Amino acid sequence: MGAITFVGAGLRPAPTIKRKAVTDLKLDLLGERQRTHYCGDLRKSEAGKTVFLAGWVARRRDLGNLIFLDLRDHTGITQVVCTPDLSAEAHGKAEEVRAEYVVGVEGEVMLRDAATINSQLPTGEVEVKAKTLLLLNEAKTPPFPIEDEVKTAEETRLQYRYLDLRRVSMQRKLRLRHQAALAVREYMSGHRFIEIETPFMTRSTPEGARDFMFPSRIHRGHFYALPQSPQLFTQLLLIGGGDRYFQIVRCFRDEDFRADRQAEFTQIDIEMAFPSRAILFDIIEGLIESLFALVDVKVSRPFARMSYEVAMEKYGSDKPHLGFDLAWKRMRLPSGAEEKLHIMQPFKALRVPGWGRASRSQLDKLQEQAKASGADWFAYAKVDESGVHSPLGKAIGEEAVRILVSGAGARSGDMVIFLGLRSARADRAALSKLDNASGDLRLELGRKLEMITPGTWSFLWVIDFPMFEYDEKDKRFGAMHHPFTSPREEDLDKLESDPGAIKALAYDLVLNGAEIGGGSIRIHRHDIQKRIFTVLGLTPEKARERFGFFLDALESGTPPHGGIALGFDRIVALMAGESNIREVIAFPKTASAVDLMCDAPATVDPDQLDELGLRIKD
Ligand code: AMO
Repeated sequence: MGAITFVGAGLRPAPTIKRKAVTDLKLDLLGERQRTHYCGDLRKSEAGKTVFLAGWVARRRDLGNLIFLDLRDHTGITQVVCTPDLSAEAHGKAEEVRAEYVVGVEGEVMLRDAATINSQLPTGEVEVKAKTLLLLNEAKTPPFPIEDEVKTAEETRLQYRYLDLRRVSMQRKLRLRHQAALAVREYMSGHRFIEIETPFMTRSTPEGARDFMFPSRIHRGHFYALPQSPQLFTQLLLIGGGDRYFQIVRCFRDEDFRADRQAEFTQIDIEMAFPSRAILFDIIEGLIESLFALVDVKVSRPFARMSYEVAMEKYGSDKPHLGFDLAWKRMRLPSGAEEKLHIMQPFKALRVPGWGRASRSQLDKLQEQAKASGADWFAYAKVDESGVHSPLGKAIGEEAVRILVSGAGARSGDMVIFLGLRSARADRAALSKLDNASGDLRLELGRKLEMITPGTWSFLWVIDFPMFEYDEKDKRFGAMHHPFTSPREEDLDKLESDPGAIKALAYDLVLNGAEIGGGSIRIHRHDIQKRIFTVLGLTPEKARERFGFFLDALESGTPPHGGIALGFDRIVALMAGESNIREVIAFPKTASAVDLMCDAPATVDPDQLDELGLRIKD
């Protein structure tokens, strides 16, 4: 037995995994032989043909004079049969073969007996009788079986990604991603967009997340940053007369990673001159339609639209899943009840149809969850034939509860959940926590009560985002999207007097509760850009220091323009029916941005640091 030890000065302790050593097998040469078919190709109609297949041995079953090899490539599996009477040499070699050896097989396609047909495999009605078996390469015993059904820990899969990728299901997803990229290029080119590459080595312009940065050797003490998005360049391209640009582009963000976030991810980045929001939406909807056609999903257009305000009020989320019918309502206590129950008004109420029989422990769990995510008041009322039942009755009286329940539109058999804040004058942060808690709780109920019909594709544009968000801690406004987003024209006169009321020409595209894209009509006038910077508390000097080159360009004949970036990984994951984007990325990183396979990030030689003029602080 051999041991493979991964060395490296990375973040992961070097694991020692015992794996069988490779043997001294005599290997054959492929020579000029060419495959006639892939392993997933053969059907009944090929019976009688002589074929040459090549791939990996997925499984070997040795019944003495009969050895079966399941031969796999990215298209599927074909059963190969080796018998000494047909070829003693092929049979002899088959005895040597182990899982993941690379072999080539020449032989005749034969129909299987009715009793041995494998209906699970598309090739299951045939098998190939080996006349020649070429041993093209051997393989160490893999650390996990390479099968479509995954039982292996994700960490191990990522460490041996090259083996994990060998699974047919992974290959299918990579190919779907490729098809999607092709469809994007075809569609966008068809709409007169051209693909232009923007730099990866750029300067740090802190947007939302932290930048990944790396030092310049030649210019000591100076750093490049990897782009969080190419947006400034794409705007510059349009200022440069680019008209309609797109790019399938890698972006880099040093942020918290989750199932739908990676440190490096891919956007379909789009920018166009002289857009109206309607034209842009139409183009993007057409793009989405052609992407989902790849997985036989008929997208219905135009997509629904909803203002940010309504989304937050009714669904407690700026990316609501509209695939199920639960919506919050803002409510107030009936007069007389306010003095008895000290909660902030309005609070939120959710009618859950048919959930009137929920158990105490189910409600307790829900309450726990709601409180953990920021609501500090939780109450409920059940409705049945005999009336309304709620612990609230004691506090505010049965009649007041009945008024609330009927206000929530509840009928017999329903449950009404109330969420709120105890403090009478809650701040914005508390209110937004309450909204988030209501959103989480709605999603939890939708999932738990299986209200989401499988196969639902619910697309939604969320529009009319506030332009600014007030930061209670810093006591100042920040841009909700980014500072280059245009305010609505009709709001411009309130820019200085009431920034909190300004709506932005920003939009997000949401699919089944996931944000799959975001964009905006940009500011193209430098006078407006300056006013926005002033609201954001950026002095002209600071703005110049950060975005000088861009501000110069803005004064050089900028056309009205706008754009959007779609999350390519997220879209492909949804198309593939996966909830984790790592499933559709060939070499993803873990939740802590580590590449387990090549063990990055890693320390470097002191000489390299010297050359860069860097010293690592303890
Ligand atoms: P935004 O930051 O909203 O917009 O990003 C656009 C879309 O990219 C996807 N996305 C991610 N996907 C995987 N991992 C990540 N870490 C990650 N971060 C974002 C999401 C998101 O909707 N410059 C603007 C776009 C514009 O205004 O044109 C931008 O980057 O699906």
